[in-house]
Amino acid sequence: MDKIQWTKDYETGIDRIDFQHRSLVNILNDLISVPNLEASQRHLVLDVTMDALLKYTVYHFESEEKFMKDANYPKIVEHIKEHEALKKTAIEFVSRFQKGERDIEKQIIQFLRNWLLNHIGKSDMDYVPYVMKIQDAQGF
Ligand SMILES: [Fe+2]
Repeated sequence: MDKIQWTKDYETGIDRIDFQHRSLVNILNDLISVPNLEASQRHLVLDVTMDALLKYTVYHFESEEKFMKDANYPKIVEHIKEHEALKKTAIEFVSRFQKGERDIEKQIIQFLRNWLLNHIGKSDMDYVPYVMKIQDAQGF
C-alpha cells in the first residue's frame, strides 16, 4: 500500500491542528510501511504502532473538540459523534488484531487511511472558519 502524501488540501491553516494531523499521517505511514521482519517481531512493531496511533488519535480529538467548543462551532455534536464512532471502530479492530486476527491488518490500515483523509479533508475543514475567528481574536 502506498504511503500517504501530505498535500495542501489537508491543511486547515491552524498550526496546532495541522501539526497534529501531520503527526497522525506520519504514524499511519509508519503502519503502512512496517518492514518485512520475522512474523512475531513484525506483529510486535504493528501492535506498538497501532497503539501509538490510537493514543495520539484520542489526544488529537480532545484538542480539536476543545477548539470547537471554544469557538462555539454549531456542528460540534455531529463532529464529536464522528470522533466517537472512529474511536469505537478503531479500538475494536485493533483489539481483534492483537488477539490474533492477524489477517485483518490490511483492512485496518485501509479503513484508517480512508477515514482519516476523508475526515481531515471534509469534516475538519467545516470548523476552520469558526476556529480561525477565535484564534485571530486571541492573537495566536
Ligand atoms: Fe475531527
